[in-house]
Amino acid sequence: MIICLSSLKGGSGKTTLAVHLAHAISLSKKKVILIDADPQGSSQGWAASREDKPPFPVIGMARNTLHRDLPELLENYDHCVIDTPPRVSALARTAILAADLVLIPVQPSSYDIWAASETVKLIEEAQGFKPEIIAAFVINRKITNTAISREVSEALSDYEFPLLKTTIGQRVIFSESSAGYSVMELAPGKVASTEIKQLSQEVIKMMGLQKW
Ligand SMILES: Nc1ncnc2c1ncn2[C@@H]1O[C@H](COP(=O)(O)OP(=O)(O)OP(=O)(O)O)[C@@H](O)[C@H]1O
Ligand SMILES: [Mg+2]
Repeated sequence: MIICLSSLKGGSGKTTLAVHLAHAISLSKKKVILIDADPQGSSQGWAASREDKPPFPVIGMARNTLHRDLPELLENYDHCVIDTPPRVSALARTAILAADLVLIPVQPSSYDIWAASETVKLIEEAQGFKPEIIAAFVINRKITNTAISREVSEALSDYEFPLLKTTIGQRVIFSESSAGYSVMELAPGKVASTEIKQLSQEVIKMMGLQKW
């Protein structure tokens, strides 16, 4: 399966969730590759920051023909995660077109809620060419018991795309994970790690898979 993390809002958590989903998949002994389609190269930077070999390959492929090129490249992999740039661009489009599932991270803020409509438009355009693309929102950086966190769920219910039940909290360990190690490595068994595993399980269920 190909999962694309997509949001036109900068800093919404695309790279963080891409790296963590890829790691969650690799932990179940499946072959996963992370494609960094963002010319900013944050996912590649994540892998390069490690002292050891990353648990899955991270390949920079900021090219406009991903949807055409990926199937052949992925012959030796079970799953693929794509990290994308936060701009309406040929790159954002090709990554969505290549995907089976597009996950849209949304932070509980008015800016993110406004930006969601642009991202939805981009995905709906792609669905015009490839109707089988599935898309869903995932709330990232949730702060429990805040009004805005409740409002974001309500605002997103206006869209056709579902909102995943799993939410990812605002946690310092996620910021620390940008130095090259996932929260499953930095703090196994802690809440952040549990949230990522839940996210991964919800995605499996949503896509009708038994497991990764
Ligand atoms: N759940 C979280 N808790 C705490 N910090 C987070 C969380 N998710 C992301 N961050 C931090 O927020 C910043 C932006 O996240 P990230 O780089 O994943 O967003 P992005 O959507 O990839 O950004 P860009 O649009 O620039 O590519 C990073 O510093 C990251 O460590
Ligand atoms: Mg990024």
